[in-house]
Amino acid sequence: MSRPKVLVTQRFFPEALDLLRQFAEVEGGVAETPLPREELLAAIGDKDGLLTLLVNRIDREIIDRARKLKIIANCAVGYDNIDVAYCREKGILVTNTPGVLTEATADLTWALILAVARRIPQADRFTREGRFQGWALDLFLGQEIAGQKLGIIGLGRIGQAVARRALGFGLQIFYYDPNRLSEEKEKELQVTYLPLDDLLKTADIITLHASLNPSTYHLINREKLALMKKTAILINVARGPIVDEVALAEALKNGQIWGAGLDVYEREPEIEKALLSLDNVVLLPHIGSATRKTRLEMAMTAVRNLIQGLSGQRPDNLVW
Ligand code: DGY
Repeated sequence: MSRPKVLVTQRFFPEALDLLRQFAEVEGGVAETPLPREELLAAIGDKDGLLTLLVNRIDREIIDRARKLKIIANCAVGYDNIDVAYCREKGILVTNTPGVLTEATADLTWALILAVARRIPQADRFTREGRFQGWALDLFLGQEIAGQKLGIIGLGRIGQAVARRALGFGLQIFYYDPNRLSEEKEKELQVTYLPLDDLLKTADIITLHASLNPSTYHLINREKLALMKKTAILINVARGPIVDEVALAEALKNGQIWGAGLDVYEREPEIEKALLSLDNVVLLPHIGSATRKTRLEMAMTAVRNLIQGLSGQRPDNLVW
């Protein structure tokens, strides 16, 4: 029997490709940049499996070209890059990589909170530029973390890991999630539920961990930013389009909120120009899960899902 054919859209870890090669004929997986759309369209026709990264937009046009495709394994927990409803209609399995990136992403959320609150990138630049003239009482005054109110939007796996760390930093924790946790779970995590607008008015630090879907698109818009405190810090490590970036840049510029930390953007890798010139925002290149251990686990998980799907088993991380 011939082996299944799998297309990998960009450079992948050799360990994960080796595992995949034990089971399938593998095409791609070495190029540094994502497979151009035209090449993806040309190559997908005879493939049984597709291994994607979140930068690959898998829409109807691509799915319609995929005559034999059984499974798309996305190497990410988010899967808003794939038209899952259409895949489902066509009987194509879609998988993601939840769980393995929880701790790394929660760590990065805290790295951003601290970087914004204590103005660490600005202070680093200042020091390198040779501008440090000696200790001064008012040099780089930031915000104290202990005793602040943290507002977590989206209390899933990552939101909960952020909450656990917040206890160590001495914060009071509030959350909003359309699916409220059980009383027992709220007690265990020491979190208090608030409706979205109340949370935005109450919190000193707001972190976003929701998935991107029509109900979360521009969830943080001009109107919601206006509810936040002038001293508020907003952190987005989820998906860029959850925040209206133009409105955020205005709010940061006008001092309507104090600062922001972003790991994700509306039109990655493009970044809203107005943000680039602001000093009260810390910008990272979508590295929430970027530890070697986590990224390798994501890659291995994606490959295992793919192999399961191609062998007729139900993959561990099916999203529909
Ligand atoms: C994801 O997995 O969805 C992150 O954005 C990248 O790790």
